[in-house]
Amino acid sequence: MSAPRWLFLTLLACLILAVSAAPSASTFVLTQASWNFTFSLNVDKNSDDIYFRLVSSADYAWASVGIGSQMGGSLMFVAYEGKDSKAVTISPRIASGNVEPTYAPNINVTLEPGSGILDNRFVVNARCTNCRSWAGGSLDVKSKDQPFIYAWGPSWSFISTDSKSANMQRHSQYGFFDMDMTQASSGDAGVPEGTQNSGASKIGDTRNDLNFPLSIHTLTMFGSFVILFPMGALFIRVISKVKLHYITQSFSLAIVFFGLATGIQLSKLFNMTRNFRTSHQILGLVLIGFLIIQWVLGYVHHREYLRTQHRSVYSEAHLWLGRLVIISGVLNAFLGLHLAGRSTLGFLLIVLIVTGIFAVIYFVIWSRSRRKRSALGSNRATNFRDDDPSSLGNSRMDIPLTDHAAPPAYQEDYVRPPPGSPPNRNRI
Ligand code: HEM
Ligand code: HEM
Repeated sequence: MSAPRWLFLTLLACLILAVSAAPSASTFVLTQASWNFTFSLNVDKNSDDIYFRLVSSADYAWASVGIGSQMGGSLMFVAYEGKDSKAVTISPRIASGNVEPTYAPNINVTLEPGSGILDNRFVVNARCTNCRSWAGGSLDVKSKDQPFIYAWGPSWSFISTDSKSANMQRHSQYGFFDMDMTQASSGDAGVPEGTQNSGASKIGDTRNDLNFPLSIHTLTMFGSFVILFPMGALFIRVISKVKLHYITQSFSLAIVFFGLATGIQLSKLFNMTRNFRTSHQILGLVLIGFLIIQWVLGYVHHREYLRTQHRSVYSEAHLWLGRLVIISGVLNAFLGLHLAGRSTLGFLLIVLIVTGIFAVIYFVIWSRSRRKRSALGSNRATNFRDDDPSSLGNSRMDIPLTDHAAPPAYQEDYVRPPPGSPPNRNRI
């Protein structure tokens, strides 16, 4: 045999050896805008071990693949950033349904060399020694279409911990695929390195998780505590519109009930909130209780005022409880944002802007009424009135103006208008 032929045969043999040494695998690749979600699986035919490689964008809080056709009962591997920002944590979890999966400490998954956060990607090279069956499910290594699920977290609520039981926020996207396990099982032990789709097919489209309960909860609670309740307070305090006040406050209370319903729905999703023990939930529930009392107090106070034309103990309670509830509600929104793992800076800015707008409205109306009052009380006003009563149109001259100069609603020294004078509909 000639030398070149020997060389060629030796090279070919090396190549065949190298190829057969690489663990065979099935690989699922999902191409996203600027990155690929890749899951490669190798089932060791000589032991119960499985090896997998998961690569996904670290622009999202977490990435995960689950063995199973739906969340409930699947064995999920969730990857997120470790305590060291270059490290990755892999956490095996099982969920009882469409709720946050719980860490399964009896599942033995370990990271293999090459894992970490590389080039802004979670790279997980892992081995599991007991992932072929678990409480509630199993991996069928003979199946040609074993179902899997995938998902990744939101682009906020990032996790940075080595703890495998870290709290996690709901996904932003999720989907399904299946894999040929016979292809995945034909090789030796080792982490697979597939980068091309092979022995796997996507089922349906990747779905956006719209998370309506969270949007409704935020919108209703934010809308009522930051905008509507303070606005209702301004209606009575600054322009003395009682009807507008109670309509706004009753409407806001009704909206708060939607916020409560979605808050309860959200609470059931997460391990941390399931038992209603977080400060956000407790304060929220107490405040909603206070709001109901506040509504009743408002009604009783109004009835008493109409009867006596004086403030009562109910009035004071209504005023102070109202202030307390609105301020605490805004503070509770900060706790809610913190609970959901969001930055509170944007919200702080919104609160400052909204408070600023309310303060300006209050100041403008207050200073205008003050100017009007002092004009009516001044010599010019007196002279004007004395000199040219007709210029006041059909206003009544027998009503002492100074009495009207006081802030309109709920004055203890309120003087009943003389009999026959037109009713002031703005007053209580
Ligand atoms: C905090 C964690 C999680 C929560 C609260 C959660 C909650 C939910 C909810 C409420 C749905 C229904 C969504 C809809 O109606 O559009 C859902 C569906 C889904 N989730 Fe999750 N999820 C979490 C984590 C995960 C993880 C780690 C995976 C891993 C792959 C995953 C995969 C899926 C899939 C594939 C679906 C659609 C199939 C099904 O209905 O089971 N989820 N999830
Ligand atoms: C004063 C009343 C409340 C206000 C102003 C409020 C406001 C908020 C806000 C702004 C968030 C953050 C939402 C986001 O990140 O988009 C939140 C989250 C949350 N709220 Fe409330 N909330 C109130 C009461 C409640 C109540 C009574 C409960 C349940 C009993 C509740 C349960 C939750 C839960 C579980 C979350 C976290 C959701 C997640 O992590 O996805 N809230 N709340």
